[in-house]
Amino acid sequence: MSDEARLVLERCDALAAVSSSPTGIERVYLSPEHARVNAMAGEWMRRAGMTTWQDAAGNQRGRYEGTEPGLPALLLGSHLDTVPDAGRYDGILGVLLGIALVARLEASGTRLPFAIEVLAFGDEEGTRFGTALLGSRAVAGTWLPEWWSLADASGTTLREAFVAFGLDPDRVGEAAYEPADVIGYLETHIEQGPYLEEADRALAVVSSIAGARRFELTLTGVAGHAGGVPFHRRHDALAGASEIVLAVERLAREADCIATVGRLQAFPGGVNVIPGLVEFSLDLRGEHDDRRDEVWAGIQAVAAEVGERRGLTLSVDETHRAPAVVASPRLRGFVRDGIVATGDTDPMVLFSKAGHDAMAVAELTGWAMLFVRCGNGGISHHPDEIVSIDDVAVALDAFEAAVHAVAAAHPAQAQAQAQSQAQAQSQAQAQAQAQAQVQVQARPQTQAPA
Ligand code: GLV
Ligand code: MN
Ligand code: MN
Repeated sequence: MSDEARLVLERCDALAAVSSSPTGIERVYLSPEHARVNAMAGEWMRRAGMTTWQDAAGNQRGRYEGTEPGLPALLLGSHLDTVPDAGRYDGILGVLLGIALVARLEASGTRLPFAIEVLAFGDEEGTRFGTALLGSRAVAGTWLPEWWSLADASGTTLREAFVAFGLDPDRVGEAAYEPADVIGYLETHIEQGPYLEEADRALAVVSSIAGARRFELTLTGVAGHAGGVPFHRRHDALAGASEIVLAVERLAREADCIATVGRLQAFPGGVNVIPGLVEFSLDLRGEHDDRRDEVWAGIQAVAAEVGERRGLTLSVDETHRAPAVVASPRLRGFVRDGIVATGDTDPMVLFSKAGHDAMAVAELTGWAMLFVRCGNGGISHHPDEIVSIDDVAVALDAFEAAVHAVAAAHPAQAQAQAQSQAQAQSQAQAQAQAQAQVQVQARPQTQAPA
C-alpha cells in the first residue's frame, strides 16, 4: 500500500523538477514546462491502463473504460500548473492520486458501471494570464471569447500562446464535455491550511469553496524630485496605495472575508523619485459572494477618498471572478463514506478558502472534494509545502472507497443489483417449489405403510 503512496510522492518530485525557474518551482499554462509535465502524466496514465490525449485547451486527460466502452464518466481531477516559487503538491497530488486509483482498478481487473476520466488541468492558478481556472473552464464549456486578448507579463496574448503550444484557438470548444457524458467530479487536494494538522486528522470532506474576485489596480499620481517637491504639493501614488492596502486588510477582516495584495510595483522606481504610478493586484474571497462584494464596495470607497485627498486617479481591471460553490450533498456523502471506510468514523468537514478546479467544473456537474492534511502548519503556495506518505496512502484508500461508493449507488449498478436479487429470489422460489413437489410426491410412499 505504501508502495503506491511512495510512487505518488516520487512522481510529485519528478514533476517538481520541471520548472522555468532555476531557484524554485514555476510552471505556467501553455509553457514548455506545461508540455513536459503533460507528457509525463500522459505516460503514467497509459501505464495505469488509460487511453490518453491532450485536449483542445491543453489539459492532459486519460480514460479508463467501465463495464462497457463509451459509458458516461466520473471525472477525477486537479491541476499541474503552479504559482511562482510553488510547493510540489498543490494540484499535483490530486492528479497523481487519480492516476494511482485507476492503476489500482486496473491491477484488480475492476470495471465500474461508468468510465473514469482523470483530468490534469493546465491552468488553475491563473499565474500567467491573471484569469484563473482556464483549463477547467474549457472543460466546463464556460470559456469566454474576451480571454483571447489577455496578455502575460511579456505581452504574449492567450491566443498567441495557444498557437505556440500547438493548439487551435478556434477549436477550444472541443474541450467541453456534454453534460450527459459526465456523472460527477471528485477532486483530492492538499488542505492548504492548518485545520487538519491542528485536529491531528489526515482527511476531511469539503463543504464549499470561497467565491473569489481578482483585480489589477493602477493608481496614477505625479512623479517628481524626492528632495524638491514639498509634501503639500505631492501626488505620491505609493503613499496612496499604501493607505488602500491597509484598508483592504481591515475591511476584509471586519467582514470575515479574505483579501490579499500579493503584487505591487511602483514606477519609475528610483530611490530619489516620488512614485508617479503604482500597479497592484487584489485577491478577494469570501464564503458568501454578497459579503465579499460589499468588501469590494468598501475598498472602492476608500480608494476614491484617498484619490480625492491626494490627487490620484485609480483605474480597475477585474481579471477573475468565480462564485462560491457548494459541494453536491450526494457526492460529498460518498467522499465521507470513503473517509469512514479508512477508520475515521466522524470525518472533519472543511470550507475551502483556496480556489480549486471544482469551482469551474461545478458549472458542468456535481462535485465533491477530499482534503489531505499538509504539514508545517498547512503552509502552501510555498516551497515548504509537505504531505506525509501515510496521509497519501490513506487518502488513496479513501478516494478509492469514495469511487466505489459512487459505483454502488450508480443507477446502472443499482439496476444490475436489483436484477441479480430478483434472479436470486426467483431461483430460491423455484427451488422451494421443486422441493415442495418432491415432498408431495414422496408423501404417499411414506404414508402408505401407515
Ligand atoms: C489557488 O490556489 C487559489 O486559491 O488562488
Ligand atoms: Mn494553488
Ligand atoms: Mn490547487
